[in-house]
Amino acid sequence: MSRKFFIGGNWKCNGTKEEVNKIICNLNEAEVPSEDIVDVVISPPFVFLPLVKSILRPDFHVAAQNCWVRKGGAYTGEVSAEMLTNLDIPWVILGHFERRALLGESNEFVGDKVAYALSQGLNVIVCVGDTLEQRLAGSTLSAMAAQTKAVADRVTNWANVVIAYEPVWAITTGQVVSPAQAQKVHKALRTWLAENVNADVASTTRIIYGCSVNRANCKELASKADVDGFLVGGASLKAEFVDIIKSATVKSA
Ligand code: 13P
Repeated sequence: MSRKFFIGGNWKCNGTKEEVNKIICNLNEAEVPSEDIVDVVISPPFVFLPLVKSILRPDFHVAAQNCWVRKGGAYTGEVSAEMLTNLDIPWVILGHFERRALLGESNEFVGDKVAYALSQGLNVIVCVGDTLEQRLAGSTLSAMAAQTKAVADRVTNWANVVIAYEPVWAITTGQVVSPAQAQKVHKALRTWLAENVNADVASTTRIIYGCSVNRANCKELASKADVDGFLVGGASLKAEFVDIIKSATVKSA
């Protein structure tokens, strides 16, 4: 089963108007594999979404970095899924570990958000990952299984879901995850999907990798069977993001 490569650029809480223009100008001029080969989704902070959407090349798409768990209303500071669809923002990142860890988003809360965003017509990149404590305790898979189960309990149609595996232990400690280690976890997660959702969802759902992906490591990571793309943080703000997009050709070769 071939899964289309997926590259997300998560800008997190970074950027100025000037930087946005520079980054998008660079992306717009880049020669990259076609949309048949790779989905490219850029995720700036909320305030820059309309600007990025208005100047970004049409073969790339945009994502919000979060949205509210249900219909909007008296929720100060939140942005609803309805607002994103109203602005034709097609994607949203949910359950990023920074929100789970810093803002206390539970597995169930993230699962509810994923289900609501999908119900409103958004495509979702849902992040799962293991902390240092979980890794040291040998509970990487059970932690990720609990996070994925909270989604599986609430979602029946996985066609518009991409799962991003982010090894929190590596991001927070600066340790390097080898491509073989990444492949092992992706494969285990796919097996979990086969056993707990179904074989079709397991074979069609894209599982992308997100930790310190850069120009130097992207090709070897992309060559791994169960790595279907990347969720790129820091490097998505730099010119090397174009090289990371080009790593999609490793899969199509
Ligand atoms: P870095 O690529 O900066 O390690 O960030 C990973 C990440 O959190 C992407 O969502």
